[in-house]
Amino acid sequence: MKLTAISLLVSSTAAFPALLNLKGNEKLLDTSVLDLNKHKAKKNIYPAADPKNCPFNPDHVPAAPWNASFPYNHANNGLPGKGKGGYQVPAPGDEEHRFIHPTATDIRGPCPGMNMLANHGFIARDGITDLAEVTDACQNVFNMGWDLANVISLVALVLGDGDIVSRKFSIGCDATNRTAAAPQVAGSQPGLNGHNNFEADASMGRDDFFLNEGDN
Ligand SMILES: *[C@@H]1O[C@H](CO)[C@@H](O)[C@H](O)[C@H]1NC(C)=O
Ligand SMILES: *[C@@H]1O[C@H](CO)[C@@H](O)[C@H](O)[C@H]1NC(C)=O
Repeated sequence: MKLTAISLLVSSTAAFPALLNLKGNEKLLDTSVLDLNKHKAKKNIYPAADPKNCPFNPDHVPAAPWNASFPYNHANNGLPGKGKGGYQVPAPGDEEHRFIHPTATDIRGPCPGMNMLANHGFIARDGITDLAEVTDACQNVFNMGWDLANVISLVALVLGDGDIVSRKFSIGCDATNRTAAAPQVAGSQPGLNGHNNFEADASMGRDDFFLNEGDN
C-alpha cells in the first residue's frame, strides 16, 4: 500500500524537476524519504520471520467469551454491537478481563493496542487472535463502530500477514504453524512484526514503519 503511494510520489516529483534540484533549506520536498536503498539498509528491528524464537503456548485459550453480566457494547461473534460506549473497561468485577501480565509463552508485538487487548483477555491472551475477536474487542473496548472495527481487523489480517482461510493472525512474531489453515503450504505468515511482505498503515496510533525510520 505504502509502496504504491511512494512510487506515485516519485513519478510526480520527476514531473517537476525543479522541486528536486533545490538545495538545503530551499528544498520544497524532503526527497531522502524516497531513497529506497536507504530504507533497505535499515536494520529490521522486528525480524519478518523468526518462528523459532516465537513464544509457543500449546494450550491456546480464545478470548473470554462475551458475558451478559458485562455486556460493554454487546459486540459478539464479529457482529455489530450497540455502539453506545460510556462505560468503564474493564468493568469493576469483570474478573475475566482483568490485567494479567503476559507469560513467556504469550506473543506480544509492536501494537500497544493489541498488546493491551491481549493482556486483558479481550483477544486471546497468547497473542494468536482472529478476525471476530479483534472486531468484537475494538467495539467493546475502544467503542469503534462495527464498520471501522471490521476494516481495521481485516487490514491487520490480510496486510498484516495473517491467514485469510483460518482468519487468524499473530499480534507479534511469526507463528505460522498456529495461524495457517494449512501451514505446510502457507509459506510464512510473519504476524504484525513482519515488515517485509506488506506494509500496512493499519494502526490507529502508530506511525508507519517504512517512513518513520523503523520507529513505529
Ligand atoms: C510451532 O512452532 C513453535 C516455534 O515457534 C514450536 O515450538 C512448536 O512446537 C510448533 N508447533 C507445532 C504444532 O508444530
Ligand atoms: C461472566 O463474567 C464473570 C466475571 O468476569 C464470571 O465470573 C462469570 O463466570 C461469567 N459468566 C459467564 C456465563 O461466563
